[in-house]
Amino acid sequence: MSDSLLDHVPVVPVVVVDDPDDAVPLARALVEGGLPVIELTLRTPAALEAMSRISASVPEILLGAGTVVTPHQAKLAADAGAQFLVSPGATPSLLAGLRDTGLPFLPGAATVSEVMALLELGYTELKLFPAEASGGLGLLKSIHAPLPGARFCPTGGITAATAASYLALPNVGCVGGTWITPSDVIARKDWATVAELARAASALAPSSPK
Ligand code: 3PG
Repeated sequence: MSDSLLDHVPVVPVVVVDDPDDAVPLARALVEGGLPVIELTLRTPAALEAMSRISASVPEILLGAGTVVTPHQAKLAADAGAQFLVSPGATPSLLAGLRDTGLPFLPGAATVSEVMALLELGYTELKLFPAEASGGLGLLKSIHAPLPGARFCPTGGITAATAASYLALPNVGCVGGTWITPSDVIARKDWATVAELARAASALAPSSPK
């Protein structure tokens, strides 16, 4: 299997946790459903504590921090046990902060020029965000010919119904989304449903280098 962040699973669950007590059962449900990767977003006060708990108790999951928008957050996430980092966009100082952690990361881009700037810096695996709002399938199809060196994890607006179309594209390794861990399902602590949604997502397509 490739070391690429894009090739572990077809769908990366993007997760928003409000209660740190939810972190471990939720991570276990994802593993049980066949998606042993989590992008835990740094959007709530609970996120870092949630990461620490998953790091300590669910070693079988590949633990990522999402919504990393400052160099300081990159460091905090690394200290909390993150094994990879994801940012919705990329600025020079954020890229330096992400690099300083020594962790693999997916910098975000949404336009041709942003992708070109990241390719110039040597980054070939990127998050396309916000995927649907910035052009979705059409954008990815259009940029593959001029920029064949870029591979993506599109995220933002992707659903169970549209994920397979993204995964069929040659420049898409995996997709990300919150539909595997809907907020109402987390609020109900309905881990069986999370496992079921993960199982359906994990069956969408083999995630293999294309
Ligand atoms: C992200 O940060 O990747 C997105 O907010 C996920 O977006 P979604 O809720 O549309 O899947």
